[in-house]
Amino acid sequence: MKSVYAKLIGTGGYLPEKKLSNKDLEKVVETSHDWIVERTGIVNRHIADDSQATSDLALIAATEAIKSAGLKNNDIDLILVATTTPDQIFPSTACILQQKLKINNNCAAFDMQAVCSGFVYALSIADSFIKAGNAKNVLVVGAEILSRIINWHDRTTCILFGDGAGAVVLTQHDKPGILSTCLHSNGDHVSLLQVPGGIGKKDLDPNHQFIQMRGNEVFKMAVNTLGKIADETLQKNSIKKEDINWLVPHQANLRIIKATAKKLALGLDKVIITVQDQGNTSSASVPLALHTGIGDGRIKNGDIVLLEAFGGGFTWGSALLKL
Ligand code: ACO
Repeated sequence: MKSVYAKLIGTGGYLPEKKLSNKDLEKVVETSHDWIVERTGIVNRHIADDSQATSDLALIAATEAIKSAGLKNNDIDLILVATTTPDQIFPSTACILQQKLKINNNCAAFDMQAVCSGFVYALSIADSFIKAGNAKNVLVVGAEILSRIINWHDRTTCILFGDGAGAVVLTQHDKPGILSTCLHSNGDHVSLLQVPGGIGKKDLDPNHQFIQMRGNEVFKMAVNTLGKIADETLQKNSIKKEDINWLVPHQANLRIIKATAKKLALGLDKVIITVQDQGNTSSASVPLALHTGIGDGRIKNGDIVLLEAFGGGFTWGSALLKL
Protein backbone atom coordinates (compact mmCIF):
# COMPACT_ATOMS: atom_id res chain seq x y z
CA MET A 1 0.00 0.00 0.00
CA LYS A 2 1.22 3.52 -0.82
CA SER A 3 2.33 5.54 2.23
CA VAL A 4 0.45 8.72 3.13
CA TYR A 5 1.77 11.63 5.12
CA ALA A 6 0.49 14.84 6.71
CA LYS A 7 1.36 18.16 5.09
CA LEU A 8 0.68 21.66 6.37
CA ILE A 9 -1.30 23.65 3.79
CA GLY A 10 -2.80 26.57 5.70
CA THR A 11 -2.37 28.73 8.81
CA GLY A 12 -4.42 31.36 10.63
CA GLY A 13 -4.18 33.46 13.75
CA TYR A 14 -6.15 35.84 15.91
CA LEU A 15 -5.23 38.20 18.74
CA PRO A 16 -7.93 40.15 20.60
CA GLU A 17 -7.94 43.88 19.96
CA LYS A 18 -7.32 45.00 23.55
CA LYS A 19 -3.64 45.26 24.47
CA LEU A 20 -2.23 45.27 27.99
CA SER A 21 1.23 46.82 28.25
CA ASN A 22 3.85 46.57 30.96
CA LYS A 23 3.08 50.20 31.78
CA ASP A 24 -0.59 49.23 32.30
CA LEU A 25 0.52 46.43 34.65
CA GLU A 26 2.64 48.86 36.68
CA LYS A 27 -0.70 50.36 37.78
CA VAL A 28 -2.07 46.96 38.86
CA VAL A 29 0.81 45.28 40.74
CA GLU A 30 4.22 46.27 42.11
CA THR A 31 6.32 45.70 39.01
CA SER A 32 8.12 47.67 36.32
CA HIS A 33 8.40 47.64 32.55
CA ASP A 34 12.17 47.16 32.88
CA TRP A 35 11.86 44.15 35.23
CA ILE A 36 9.36 42.43 32.95
CA VAL A 37 11.41 43.04 29.79
CA GLU A 38 14.69 41.96 31.42
CA ARG A 39 13.24 38.73 32.92
CA THR A 40 10.81 37.74 30.15
CA GLY A 41 11.17 39.86 26.99
CA ILE A 42 7.43 40.64 27.15
CA VAL A 43 6.16 44.17 26.40
CA ASN A 44 2.48 43.63 25.51
CA ARG A 45 -0.15 40.94 25.68
CA HIS A 46 -3.68 40.80 24.22
CA ILE A 47 -6.80 40.37 26.37
CA ALA A 48 -10.11 38.97 25.14
CA ASP A 49 -13.27 40.98 25.43
CA ASP A 50 -15.76 39.81 28.11
CA SER A 51 -18.15 38.75 25.34
CA GLN A 52 -15.61 36.40 23.72
CA ALA A 53 -15.18 32.70 24.47
CA THR A 54 -12.19 30.57 23.51
CA SER A 55 -14.20 29.11 20.61
CA ASP A 56 -14.75 32.65 19.24
CA LEU A 57 -11.01 33.23 19.07
CA ALA A 58 -10.57 29.76 17.58
CA LEU A 59 -13.26 30.46 14.96
CA ILE A 60 -11.42 33.47 13.54
CA ALA A 61 -8.04 31.66 13.40
CA ALA A 62 -9.63 28.49 11.97
CA THR A 63 -11.58 30.36 9.27
CA GLU A 64 -8.36 32.02 8.09
CA ALA A 65 -6.44 28.71 8.13
CA ILE A 66 -9.12 26.87 6.10
CA LYS A 67 -9.28 29.74 3.60
CA SER A 68 -5.49 29.88 3.21
CA ALA A 69 -5.50 26.10 2.63
CA GLY A 70 -7.91 26.65 -0.27
CA LEU A 71 -10.53 24.41 1.36
CA LYS A 72 -14.19 24.79 2.33
CA ASN A 73 -15.24 24.25 5.95
CA ASN A 74 -16.96 21.01 5.07
CA ASP A 75 -13.72 19.57 3.65
CA ILE A 76 -12.46 19.26 7.25
CA ASP A 77 -13.01 15.78 8.66
CA LEU A 78 -11.24 16.12 12.01
CA ILE A 79 -11.06 19.11 14.39
CA LEU A 80 -8.61 19.14 17.28
CA VAL A 81 -8.60 22.06 19.70
CA ALA A 82 -5.73 22.33 22.16
CA THR A 83 -6.87 24.45 25.07
CA THR A 84 -6.52 24.79 28.79
CA THR A 85 -9.35 27.34 28.96
CA PRO A 86 -12.28 25.56 27.28
CA ASP A 87 -15.63 27.35 26.84
CA GLN A 88 -17.40 24.86 29.15
CA ILE A 89 -16.65 21.65 31.07
CA PHE A 90 -18.42 19.91 28.19
CA PRO A 91 -19.07 19.64 25.32
CA SER A 92 -15.57 20.14 23.99
CA THR A 93 -14.52 23.48 22.54
CA ALA A 94 -13.79 21.51 19.34
CA CYS A 95 -17.49 20.55 19.06
CA ILE A 96 -18.57 24.15 19.76
CA LEU A 97 -16.11 25.28 17.07
CA GLN A 98 -17.52 22.68 14.68
CA GLN A 99 -20.98 24.17 15.20
CA LYS A 100 -19.68 27.73 14.66
CA LEU A 101 -17.92 26.63 11.47
CA LYS A 102 -21.18 24.96 10.37
CA ILE A 103 -19.33 21.74 9.57
CA ASN A 104 -22.09 19.18 9.12
CA ASN A 105 -20.27 16.28 7.42
CA ASN A 106 -19.04 13.19 9.27
CA CYS A 107 -16.35 15.24 11.01
CA ALA A 108 -14.89 14.12 14.36
CA ALA A 109 -13.95 16.73 16.97
CA PHE A 110 -12.28 16.67 20.36
CA ASP A 111 -10.10 18.76 22.70
CA MET A 112 -6.50 18.22 23.73
CA GLN A 113 -5.35 19.25 27.21
CA ALA A 114 -1.58 19.40 27.54
CA VAL A 115 -1.36 23.07 28.61
CA CYS A 116 1.41 24.91 26.71
CA SER A 117 2.40 21.74 24.80
CA GLY A 118 -1.20 21.17 23.68
CA PHE A 119 -0.74 22.28 20.08
CA VAL A 120 2.32 20.05 19.53
CA TYR A 121 0.41 17.15 21.11
CA ALA A 122 -2.60 17.83 18.84
CA LEU A 123 -0.35 18.06 15.77
CA SER A 124 1.06 14.64 16.60
CA ILE A 125 -2.45 13.15 16.91
CA ALA A 126 -3.48 14.76 13.61
CA ASP A 127 -0.39 13.30 11.95
CA SER A 128 -1.28 9.82 13.25
CA PHE A 129 -4.90 10.08 12.03
CA ILE A 130 -3.77 11.10 8.54
CA LYS A 131 -1.03 8.44 8.31
CA ALA A 132 -3.51 5.76 9.40
CA GLY A 133 -5.94 6.88 6.70
CA ASN A 134 -8.52 7.91 9.31
CA ALA A 135 -8.65 11.58 8.30
CA LYS A 136 -7.91 13.58 5.15
CA ASN A 137 -8.07 17.25 6.14
CA VAL A 138 -7.44 18.07 9.79
CA LEU A 139 -7.95 21.43 11.48
CA VAL A 140 -5.62 21.83 14.47
CA VAL A 141 -6.22 24.85 16.70
CA GLY A 142 -4.52 26.17 19.83
CA ALA A 143 -6.76 28.71 21.55
CA GLU A 144 -6.71 30.28 25.00
CA ILE A 145 -8.28 32.95 27.19
CA LEU A 146 -5.71 32.73 29.96
CA SER A 147 -6.69 36.19 31.28
CA ARG A 148 -9.67 34.45 32.96
CA ILE A 149 -7.48 32.09 35.02
CA ILE A 150 -4.98 34.72 36.15
CA ASN A 151 -4.86 36.22 39.62
CA TRP A 152 -4.39 39.89 38.73
CA HIS A 153 -2.94 40.54 42.22
CA ASP A 154 -0.12 38.00 41.72
CA ARG A 155 2.79 39.79 40.05
CA THR A 156 4.72 36.56 39.59
CA THR A 157 2.16 35.27 37.05
CA CYS A 158 -0.10 38.12 35.81
CA ILE A 159 2.70 39.72 33.78
CA LEU A 160 3.33 36.58 31.75
CA PHE A 161 0.18 35.49 29.97
CA GLY A 162 -2.04 36.64 27.10
CA ASP A 163 -5.02 35.50 25.01
CA GLY A 164 -5.09 34.37 21.37
CA ALA A 165 -5.63 31.57 18.88
CA GLY A 166 -3.60 29.98 16.12
CA ALA A 167 -4.68 27.32 13.64
CA VAL A 168 -3.27 25.10 10.92
CA VAL A 169 -4.77 22.76 8.33
CA LEU A 170 -3.01 19.48 7.55
CA THR A 171 -3.86 17.35 4.55
CA GLN A 172 -3.03 13.89 3.22
CA HIS A 173 0.02 14.00 0.93
CA ASP A 174 2.31 11.56 -0.83
CA LYS A 175 5.51 13.08 0.63
CA PRO A 176 6.33 13.67 4.32
CA GLY A 177 5.36 17.12 5.62
CA ILE A 178 5.45 16.28 9.33
CA LEU A 179 8.79 14.48 9.56
CA SER A 180 8.51 13.47 13.22
CA THR A 181 6.87 14.28 16.51
CA CYS A 182 8.20 13.57 20.01
CA LEU A 183 5.91 13.80 23.04
CA HIS A 184 6.72 13.43 26.74
CA SER A 185 5.26 14.10 30.15
CA ASN A 186 6.17 13.84 33.82
CA GLY A 187 3.40 14.16 36.39
CA ASP A 188 5.75 14.37 39.38
CA HIS A 189 5.85 18.18 39.55
CA VAL A 190 2.19 19.21 39.54
CA SER A 191 2.75 21.68 42.39
CA LEU A 192 5.25 23.72 40.36
CA LEU A 193 2.68 24.83 37.77
CA GLN A 194 -1.05 24.37 38.15
CA VAL A 195 -4.58 25.68 38.45
CA PRO A 196 -5.59 23.57 41.48
CA GLY A 197 -9.36 24.09 41.22
CA GLY A 198 -11.56 21.51 39.58
CA ILE A 199 -14.21 18.98 40.36
CA GLY A 200 -11.86 16.36 41.84
CA LYS A 201 -12.69 17.45 45.39
CA LYS A 202 -15.03 19.95 47.03
CA ASP A 203 -12.89 23.08 46.88
CA LEU A 204 -14.10 26.48 48.06
CA ASP A 205 -10.80 28.37 47.82
CA PRO A 206 -11.36 31.04 45.13
CA ASN A 207 -7.58 31.28 44.53
CA HIS A 208 -7.62 27.73 43.23
CA GLN A 209 -9.16 28.86 39.97
CA PHE A 210 -5.99 30.79 39.07
CA ILE A 211 -2.57 29.84 37.70
CA GLN A 212 -0.02 29.12 40.44
CA MET A 213 3.59 28.80 39.37
CA ARG A 214 6.99 28.40 41.03
CA GLY A 215 8.53 30.28 38.10
CA ASN A 216 12.21 29.86 38.87
CA GLU A 217 11.95 26.07 39.20
CA VAL A 218 9.79 25.84 36.06
CA PHE A 219 12.32 27.98 34.21
CA LYS A 220 15.24 25.65 34.98
CA MET A 221 13.20 22.58 34.08
CA ALA A 222 12.04 24.15 30.79
CA VAL A 223 15.56 25.13 29.65
CA ASN A 224 16.97 21.71 30.47
CA THR A 225 14.09 19.76 28.91
CA LEU A 226 13.87 21.79 25.70
CA GLY A 227 17.60 21.27 25.11
CA LYS A 228 17.08 17.52 25.40
CA ILE A 229 14.06 17.45 23.08
CA ALA A 230 16.03 19.35 20.43
CA ASP A 231 18.75 16.66 20.59
CA GLU A 232 16.15 13.87 20.52
CA THR A 233 14.51 15.35 17.41
CA LEU A 234 17.83 15.70 15.57
CA GLN A 235 18.74 12.09 16.38
CA LYS A 236 15.32 10.71 15.46
CA ASN A 237 15.55 12.31 12.01
CA SER A 238 19.31 11.72 11.53
CA ILE A 239 19.83 15.39 10.77
CA LYS A 240 22.33 18.00 11.95
CA LYS A 241 21.68 21.31 13.68
CA GLU A 242 22.51 23.18 10.47
CA ASP A 243 19.74 21.34 8.60
CA ILE A 244 17.13 23.28 10.58
CA ASN A 245 16.02 26.46 8.80
CA TRP A 246 13.68 27.78 11.48
CA LEU A 247 12.96 27.27 15.16
CA VAL A 248 9.35 28.04 16.16
CA PRO A 249 9.41 27.73 19.96
CA HIS A 250 6.71 28.03 22.59
CA GLN A 251 6.72 31.69 23.58
CA ALA A 252 6.95 31.60 27.39
CA ASN A 253 10.05 33.65 28.03
CA LEU A 254 12.70 35.19 25.74
CA ARG A 255 15.49 33.81 27.94
CA ILE A 256 14.17 30.24 27.51
CA ILE A 257 13.89 30.80 23.73
CA LYS A 258 17.48 32.13 23.57
CA ALA A 259 18.78 29.13 25.54
CA THR A 260 17.08 26.68 23.14
CA ALA A 261 18.39 28.55 20.08
CA LYS A 262 21.91 28.49 21.56
CA LYS A 263 21.67 24.74 22.10
CA LEU A 264 20.81 24.38 18.39
CA ALA A 265 23.57 26.86 17.37
CA LEU A 266 20.85 28.92 15.66
CA GLY A 267 21.09 32.72 15.43
CA LEU A 268 18.04 34.59 16.68
CA ASP A 269 17.44 35.60 13.05
CA LYS A 270 16.41 31.95 12.52
CA VAL A 271 13.94 31.92 15.40
CA ILE A 272 10.35 33.17 15.18
CA ILE A 273 9.80 35.32 18.27
CA THR A 274 6.40 36.78 19.13
CA VAL A 275 6.59 36.77 22.93
CA GLN A 276 7.30 40.52 23.09
CA ASP A 277 3.88 41.41 21.65
CA GLN A 278 1.79 38.45 22.80
CA GLY A 279 3.15 37.12 26.11
CA ASN A 280 2.64 33.43 26.79
CA THR A 281 -0.58 32.32 25.06
CA SER A 282 -0.06 28.67 26.11
CA SER A 283 -1.34 26.28 23.42
CA ALA A 284 -1.87 29.17 20.98
CA SER A 285 1.72 30.37 21.05
CA VAL A 286 3.33 27.86 18.64
CA PRO A 287 0.64 28.08 15.90
CA LEU A 288 0.54 31.88 16.24
CA ALA A 289 4.33 32.06 15.82
CA LEU A 290 4.20 29.64 12.88
CA HIS A 291 1.44 31.72 11.27
CA THR A 292 3.54 34.87 11.78
CA GLY A 293 6.67 33.32 10.23
CA ILE A 294 4.82 31.90 7.22
CA GLY A 295 2.61 34.98 6.82
CA ASP A 296 5.48 37.47 6.65
CA GLY A 297 7.39 35.28 4.19
CA ARG A 298 10.33 34.32 6.41
CA ILE A 299 9.39 30.61 6.46
CA LYS A 300 9.24 29.35 2.88
CA ASN A 301 8.16 26.20 1.07
CA GLY A 302 10.77 23.47 1.47
CA ASP A 303 12.10 24.84 4.80
CA ILE A 304 12.76 22.48 7.70
CA VAL A 305 11.02 23.90 10.78
CA LEU A 306 11.37 22.73 14.36
CA LEU A 307 8.40 23.37 16.67
CA GLU A 308 8.88 22.79 20.39
CA ALA A 309 6.92 23.39 23.58
CA PHE A 310 7.02 22.90 27.34
CA GLY A 311 4.16 23.37 29.77
CA GLY A 312 2.12 22.32 32.76
CA GLY A 313 1.96 18.64 33.53
CA PHE A 314 4.86 18.76 32.91
CA THR A 315 4.38 18.09 29.24
CA TRP A 316 6.81 18.77 26.44
CA GLY A 317 7.27 17.88 22.81
CA SER A 318 8.53 18.72 19.37
CA ALA A 319 7.41 18.46 15.76
CA LEU A 320 9.76 18.62 12.80
CA LEU A 321 8.09 19.89 9.63
CA LYS A 322 9.11 20.18 6.01
CA LEU A 323 7.02 23.01 4.58
N1 ACO B 1 7.94 42.45 39.08
C1 ACO B 1 8.95 42.73 39.91
N2 ACO B 1 9.53 41.79 40.70
C2 ACO B 1 9.05 40.55 40.62
C3 ACO B 1 7.99 40.19 39.77
C4 ACO B 1 7.42 41.21 38.99
N3 ACO B 1 6.41 41.00 38.14
N4 ACO B 1 7.74 38.88 39.92
C5 ACO B 1 8.60 38.41 40.81
N5 ACO B 1 9.41 39.42 41.26
C6 ACO B 1 10.48 39.34 42.23
C7 ACO B 1 10.37 38.15 43.14
O1 ACO B 1 9.51 38.40 44.21
C8 ACO B 1 11.81 37.95 43.56
O2 ACO B 1 12.10 38.88 44.57
P1 ACO B 1 13.05 38.45 45.82
O3 ACO B 1 14.39 38.12 45.21
O4 ACO B 1 13.04 39.66 46.68
O5 ACO B 1 12.39 37.25 46.44
C9 ACO B 1 12.62 38.38 42.33
O6 ACO B 1 11.72 39.17 41.54
C10 ACO B 1 13.14 37.20 41.50
O7 ACO B 1 12.07 36.25 41.31
P2 ACO B 1 12.29 34.94 40.47
O8 ACO B 1 11.01 34.15 40.47
O9 ACO B 1 13.53 34.23 40.91
O10 ACO B 1 12.53 35.57 39.01
P3 ACO B 1 12.94 34.84 37.67
O11 ACO B 1 14.18 35.44 37.17
O12 ACO B 1 12.88 33.33 37.80
O13 ACO B 1 11.77 35.28 36.68
C11 ACO B 1 9.81 34.27 35.67
C12 ACO B 1 10.43 34.91 36.94
C13 ACO B 1 9.78 35.34 34.62
C14 ACO B 1 8.40 33.84 36.03
C15 ACO B 1 10.66 33.08 35.20
O14 ACO B 1 10.96 32.25 36.27
C16 ACO B 1 9.97 32.25 34.12
O15 ACO B 1 9.78 32.68 33.00
N6 ACO B 1 9.67 30.98 34.44
C17 ACO B 1 9.19 29.99 33.45
C18 ACO B 1 7.80 30.25 32.95
C19 ACO B 1 7.43 29.12 32.00
O16 ACO B 1 8.17 28.79 31.11
N7 ACO B 1 6.31 28.48 32.24
C20 ACO B 1 6.02 27.26 31.43
C21 ACO B 1 4.94 27.39 30.53
S1 ACO B 1 3.52 28.12 31.25
C22 ACO B 1 2.25 26.93 31.20
O17 ACO B 1 2.46 25.78 30.96
C23 ACO B 1 0.87 27.44 31.53
